[in-house]
Amino acid sequence: MSKKSSRISGFHTLSVADRVSKTLEFAGMSDEQDAAMFLNTGNLPADLADRLIENAVGTMNIPVGIATNMLIDGRDYLVPMATEESSVVAAVCNAGRQSYESGGFQTSMSGTCMIAQIQLVDITDPGNCRLSILERIEEIRAICNDCDPVLVKHGGGFRDLEVRIIESAHGPMVITHLIVDTRDAMGANAVNTMAETLAPHIESWTGGRVYLRILSNLADRRLARARCVWKADAIGGPDVRDGIVRAYEFALMDPYRAATHNKGIMNGVSAVVMATGNDTRAVEAGAHAYAARKGWYSSLSHWEVTASGDLAGSIELPMAVGLIGGATKLHPMARASLRIMDIQSAEQLARVIAAVGLAQNFSALKALATEGVQKGHMSLHSQNIALMAGAEGDEIAAVAQRLVDLGTVRIDVAEQELLKLRSKS
Ligand code: MEV
Repeated sequence: MSKKSSRISGFHTLSVADRVSKTLEFAGMSDEQDAAMFLNTGNLPADLADRLIENAVGTMNIPVGIATNMLIDGRDYLVPMATEESSVVAAVCNAGRQSYESGGFQTSMSGTCMIAQIQLVDITDPGNCRLSILERIEEIRAICNDCDPVLVKHGGGFRDLEVRIIESAHGPMVITHLIVDTRDAMGANAVNTMAETLAPHIESWTGGRVYLRILSNLADRRLARARCVWKADAIGGPDVRDGIVRAYEFALMDPYRAATHNKGIMNGVSAVVMATGNDTRAVEAGAHAYAARKGWYSSLSHWEVTASGDLAGSIELPMAVGLIGGATKLHPMARASLRIMDIQSAEQLARVIAAVGLAQNFSALKALATEGVQKGHMSLHSQNIALMAGAEGDEIAAVAQRLVDLGTVRIDVAEQELLKLRSKS
């Protein structure tokens, strides 16, 4: 067998179609249908995909669903969610419906500032260095703002300076934090440019050596907050309410549970972040780091009982999303998602996402505290299994229903049921 080589010279200079041919040839996939599948790039034109990333050969379509019933800060929203997981969209719709009559979600935001870090090493006098950086705040403000006059024109720019000392195996490090209001931009490019521009100045002021110059995804100057009260009567009574609070208390104290609890929150958060073309990994990293800020990993949400016996939920998490730059402005679906929600600012988007995260968490905890998640999950999942078993057209619903009735959503059972169905017709 001849050895296949991944060293394909000039791969990046090829057209998308030629890259597809090379890739399929490498994989021994000669079927024309395979090539056609790659070249069908759906709502993201191939030339745009080719500009967004390197070596593009296609796109990966995932469903976008609409969460209904979302009343946020007194306004009705239809929220686009991009997710491959069944039950995620339905869960938000249900949480929204059960809170709609009691006023829906109230949201707020701590600000739109990002943090860039500059790592200074090879110094013997960290205390002295720290102050010599801090005392130059006005000079630093001017250097940073000069990097991005457009941001300054839109009301953003350098806001504050923090300098921390960290001990390391190779001696002390002095870490400068540039705190920059990036307004409607996620801000990675703006703050990274500022950190890189400032770095040589810091070296000359301190005599040390700068290594890293990069934003922090622990965007705790950009916290999105949402709260909501669910009437006990609207959610099935005090037992359900107390079950949700107990579930929360479990996540508060146990990192094994907190990871799953927060994963449920991120089901909603990441789906809206993705639908709007924002950076899911940045938001996820920020959320999990924030969840561990007390020194142990814990719940991102908080649940309690109000004086009137209702259920109050709240959430606070870093939300570095923007409306400018990258896929947000270029991807046709991202642009449409922002239009559906009539989003006017990054802050508004961040607040909507926090409300969706809380809604998602409510539905997950309610299901877990009552009938469990499998029942709701299974009716959608059964359709996927029916499809995988080869069901087509009307057969899909019929086989899926049989699986639900049998209480066994398995591929082998789906295949048997499909055979039975076909033998009858
Ligand atoms: C599944 O994607 C999410 C849940 O596990 C969340 C949770 O357990 O809270 C249901």
